[in-house]
Amino acid sequence: MSSMLNEAGGSAAARPQIHAARRFPATIGRFDDLADRAAIDKLTRWVEQRYRADLAERPSKHVYVSTLPEPAIAEIDRLRDSTLIRSLIAARVAPGSVIAPMKHTDELYISHYNKDRGGDQGLFDKHYDGNLRFLASSVVVRALIYLQSDATYKVVFDDSRVEKAFETYDFGLLDFHRELHWVEGQYNPTDRQRILLKCNYLVTPRNAAVAGRAALAANTAVFYVVKAAMEYSKSPRTPAERAVGFLCNLFRRMNNVHPLIPLALVAGVTTAALAAAIWGVSVL
Ligand SMILES: [Fe+2]
Repeated sequence: MSSMLNEAGGSAAARPQIHAARRFPATIGRFDDLADRAAIDKLTRWVEQRYRADLAERPSKHVYVSTLPEPAIAEIDRLRDSTLIRSLIAARVAPGSVIAPMKHTDELYISHYNKDRGGDQGLFDKHYDGNLRFLASSVVVRALIYLQSDATYKVVFDDSRVEKAFETYDFGLLDFHRELHWVEGQYNPTDRQRILLKCNYLVTPRNAAVAGRAALAANTAVFYVVKAAMEYSKSPRTPAERAVGFLCNLFRRMNNVHPLIPLALVAGVTTAALAAAIWGVSVL
């Protein structure tokens, strides 16, 4: 996690505060500052050059920001750590909350609307990004920063009753675990790509360091496992890739009902597999 910690609400938080986390309301913003827009334009030109071959392909692509060259990371830092975004988050969480960027999970995302039933179709169907909405003491806010986009598709943030056809320089903030959202629009296999940044911020109560570290560990673990499964099974060709893609979409639908259902299923299957391995019994 970044060392850049930020407290919401300034002077209002001299005493320990333990708030049950509520859903962070989906919030729309826009970079109007010319220097910010110059950073976005510069990043877009670099992405179009660096990922020319990937942009010509249909599947979506995620790249961890931490793996990019230093100049690109510096431009992304400018946007992620902007006062504009941080102040919007701070205004919508409990006074005194600690807002910590989760830079190790931030991604550059080249998006193509996708209907191939692979692991990344869930990016467009109804879904929650995360499955830890039962962790009451923390919130993960995700910023979708649109480096290049047109208004072809609309994102619906259902819980907050907010909709937006994002264009270049727009950004959206949403609750990673608690906002049911999806993409709407006429599916066009030859449409232009969108280029986004996905940046995440962990919001915890002031003076809740232990709970904060636990929330960070849980979020990081789930994030990497889910991301690896989605990447493995996007545009599936082999039976194994199709199977993982099926599970990704099955778990997403289960998570839409309740986050503990897919976790319980995984625990049950794991237990059964261990039992079979230990006692040599067939459970399937
Ligand atoms: Fe999403």
